[in-house]
Amino acid sequence: MEEVKVYVLADDYSGYDSEFLAQHGASYLIKMTRSGESVNILFDTGTYGNLILENMRLLDIDPKVIDMIVLSHCHYDHTKGLVEIVEKINKENFPIIAHPTVFRPHFCKEPVLTHVGMPFKYRKKVEELGGEWVLLRNPTEIAENIFVTGEVERVTEFEKTPTLKLYTLENGQLVEDDLKDDVSLVINTEKGIIVISGCSHAGIINITKHAIRITGSNEVRTVIGGFHLIDADEERIRKTVDMLKQLETREIYTGHCTGLKAECLLLKEFGDSFKKLHAGMVITFR
Ligand SMILES: [Fe+2]
Ligand SMILES: [Fe+2]
Repeated sequence: MEEVKVYVLADDYSGYDSEFLAQHGASYLIKMTRSGESVNILFDTGTYGNLILENMRLLDIDPKVIDMIVLSHCHYDHTKGLVEIVEKINKENFPIIAHPTVFRPHFCKEPVLTHVGMPFKYRKKVEELGGEWVLLRNPTEIAENIFVTGEVERVTEFEKTPTLKLYTLENGQLVEDDLKDDVSLVINTEKGIIVISGCSHAGIINITKHAIRITGSNEVRTVIGGFHLIDADEERIRKTVDMLKQLETREIYTGHCTGLKAECLLLKEFGDSFKKLHAGMVITFR
């Protein structure tokens, strides 16, 4: 009998009457237990590591239990907490998994040119603290029945490009960056797949279809994460929700960059099978 627990350690919402700390960003601890043995994977590290560590303390989770970290993409609201957390974990040869381009320069232009990727100094700093980068481009099983999607194929017409306009540097020029480094986690359970995304810049439908392909499962049990529809137009929001229905997604937990408009439509269409994420939430799958 397997059990999967997802602890929400960072979200932009702290929940009603909650002692947990909110911040701009996402971070989830995934604990998979089978025959008394547990694997603990930290997916993303928010903007502020100290707030994640405080939420872990409130949830009675020792950072030392973390076996590896997976970064969904380069954005600071998923990576900036990394150094503080790796320092607390304090283990040699500690794996940190991300896409090979995660260190690239990555800018927004408005209102002023700002680097919004992972801080450049982190690459070396994390290694000095015992971390080891494992850079994966392809789908990879990182623990039994737990996969990192690798680069997500963008097959859905309305999700061909991310909703955000961002830039990288190539030969001294700013060029558009379509966030190829956006990867998600997939857990293949007896009752279908659980998809966990960071910001879904690759498109949550593309990600879910990719997860179905790599696991060979045709049951979408749960989709969790930020769907980054906060700046999407109504058509894209409507098509996304329709497709989640068409894929027979049984449950949806979303927050962070999903946006109120998309959340309202998800609530309308999914009813009690839709839940809003908040820091401190614990989701249990048996
Ligand atoms: Fe984000
Ligand atoms: Fe993002």
